[in-house]
Formats: sequence, structure tokens, C-alpha cells
Amino acid sequence: MKLVKPFTLGVVAMTALLYACGDGGGDSARKETTSSIPQNEPKKEASFEDQHGDNPDYVQGLALIKDSDCPSCHMAERKIVGPSYAEVASKYENTEENVDLLASRVIKGSVGEWGDVPMPSHPGLSEEDAQQMVKYVLLLRR
Ligand code: HEC
Repeated sequence: MKLVKPFTLGVVAMTALLYACGDGGGDSARKETTSSIPQNEPKKEASFEDQHGDNPDYVQGLALIKDSDCPSCHMAERKIVGPSYAEVASKYENTEENVDLLASRVIKGSVGEWGDVPMPSHPGLSEEDAQQMVKYVLLLRR
């Protein structure tokens, strides 16, 4: 009888590392302190993918967003040109009304909600697709 159980210590080490590197992400007190640190690892407890990866609204919305120009101005948890999706999600509750409201702003463009930088209009986007994207955005709540 051969009973070989490969225990992967690597997984444990990885997990510990993730916790060790995680920071609160406070954006007011500190400026750019992360310039030389690679940002391709999820830093927080559970990733949004872990939390919502089996939700069709998450999967379909994310696919549409990846196909569009949104990623050039938005990231899930970091403000670039526009607010992070997590910021948007903490400002607006995930209700049908807010989905409609935000979807129409994505289509028509928006300014003044987050600052002076405008979001351009997306006239080529169907209401249905815009709503699906917003449903994804509003799931990213911490
Ligand atoms: C050229 C940069 C740019 C692109 C491309 C862009 N956005 Fe934005 N987005 C912004 C900015 C800037 C704001 C903040 C606008 C404001 O203050 O009203 C914003 C705001 C938003 C908001 C919040 C609106 C509100 O009323 O609070 C949502 C939701 C959003 N964008 C989703 C998207 C989606 C989905 C796409 C892709 C279809 C997209 N954005 C493409 C720059 C962009």
C-alpha cells in the first residue's frame, strides 16, 4: 500500500504573504507609496472573484466591461481617471433604480458626481449592456 499525500506548504506560505503585504488602502493619509511594488496580486481578505465569481451578474458584467473602454479609466479598487468600482458601489446601493440611473449616466456621460473630470458618453452601448455592467460594479462593495 502506497499512501503518498503531497502537502503543499507553498499554499500556506502564499496565504501568509498575502496577509503580510495587505494594507488598509487608506487613500487620504498616504500618497503613492506603491510605485515599485507589483500590483497584480489581490491584496485584501477575499477577492471579489472569490465572493461573486459564481454570480452571473458579476461574470457577464465583467465580460462586457473588459470588452469596452471602461478599464482605461476604472479599476475595481483603485481610482485612476474615474472612481474605483468599489467606491461607486459604496456610494450607491444595489437597487434597480440605481442600476437604471448609473446605466443612463454611462450612456450619456457624467460630470460633477465625483469631481471635475467628465466621463465621456457611450452612445453605442445598449441600455441592457450598460445595466449589466453597472450590476457588476455595484457588487464590488467592501
Ligand atoms: C475616459 C475615462 C472614462 C471611461 C472610458 C469610462 N469612465 Fe466611468 N467615469 C469616469 C469619470 C471621470 C467618472 C466620474 C464622473 C463624474 O464625476 O460625474 C466616471 C463615473 C462612472 C460611474 C459613476 C457615475 C455616477 O453617477 O456616480 C460609473 C458607474 C462608471 N463611470 C462606469 C463606467 C463604465 C461601465 C464604463 C465603460 C462603458 C466607463 N465608466 C468608462 C471616467 C471614465
